[in-house]
Amino acid sequence: MPWDLVTLNSGYVMPSIAYGTWTLGNGQASLSIATDASLRIGDLVDTAQGYGNEGEVGIAFHESGLSRGDVFITTKYSGFDGLDIPTAIRNSVNNIDTPCVDLYLIHNPRLAVPDIPTAWAEMEKVVEDGLAKSIGVSNFGVQDLEVLLASAKIKPAVNQILLHPYVYQQQAPIVKYAAEHAIVIEAYSALQPLTKEPSGPLDAPLKEIATRLGATTDQVLLAWTKAKGAVVVTTSSKKTRLEGYQDAGDIDLSKEDIAVIDAAGALGEKRITARIGLRKFGFGFLVGVVVLGLCSYFRLRI
Ligand SMILES: NC(=O)c1ccc[n+]([C@@H]2O[C@H](COP(=O)([O-])OP(=O)(O)OC[C@H]3O[C@@H](n4cnc5c(N)ncnc54)[C@H](OP(=O)(O)O)[C@@H]3O)[C@@H](O)[C@H]2O)c1
Repeated sequence: MPWDLVTLNSGYVMPSIAYGTWTLGNGQASLSIATDASLRIGDLVDTAQGYGNEGEVGIAFHESGLSRGDVFITTKYSGFDGLDIPTAIRNSVNNIDTPCVDLYLIHNPRLAVPDIPTAWAEMEKVVEDGLAKSIGVSNFGVQDLEVLLASAKIKPAVNQILLHPYVYQQQAPIVKYAAEHAIVIEAYSALQPLTKEPSGPLDAPLKEIATRLGATTDQVLLAWTKAKGAVVVTTSSKKTRLEGYQDAGDIDLSKEDIAVIDAAGALGEKRITARIGLRKFGFGFLVGVVVLGLCSYFRLRI
């Protein structure tokens, strides 16, 4: 199956794979890949106030010769420079040099100040003012969305979250909640099992499935993310890899393959959680030893 268009609860459609630009802010040469007309992944470009590259995204888009309707542009309110949402969105559309963006997100719930209902009302005003066609959130948990939906006039169209097999168990509640409320999940860092957590329980099944299907392991991970119903936000500095990502839309994983990846992911998640717990314990222990040492040195009683 190809990367189909997804219909948002706002009525607009968006591509189901996005080109992320977080790590590509330092030169428009690399960003020009984003809007390469031959790469349909460039149909959806994901940027943010916090990435500092909205201007470069705009330049890459204008130099591509694509029409505005050919590219779905997402940017985010990252709370930079102490700017409020009304000021930040005006700066963003000016930076990108477009009358409006397709999707505007609150980058993180902690940026919804003074509280989620107030910040969301400002987001709704962004739509009323014609500066974004759809609005949504990022890194919101179930409780954050419950608070938001209690007073929302416009539902968030998407929630962009960390999603890959090693975090699937912990993210399952928000994935389920979003599905129940017609909020599309956008998955970022789907390739972390290859980039940040290699040599884990997923390595063997990913290699086996990839070899059997004549694919690459990154393609299998993207196909898994798609099978979970999420829109993928990924990236690469290499054109060949981006072409591979595009082809991953045709990979249809079997139920058995998905179950094997889920099981290996859950095992890895347990190990990672234990490792983080141990690290925290070790740090706490070290701090305790240092404090006791200092107290004893200065003959203090605690
Ligand atoms: N909302 C948020 O809070 C948030 C947070 C993080 C990210 N994001 C968005 O999501 C986008 C993607 O994030 P991400 O970079 O973390 O995504 P990712 O899809 O997990 O990783 C992309 C990276 O994977 C590497 N890669 C691909 N295939 C590989 C393989 N087989 N072996 C080793 N490395 C491989 C690529 O390197 P090469 O360049 O060498 O190909 C690329 O840099 C960001 O640009 C941003 O737009 C949003």
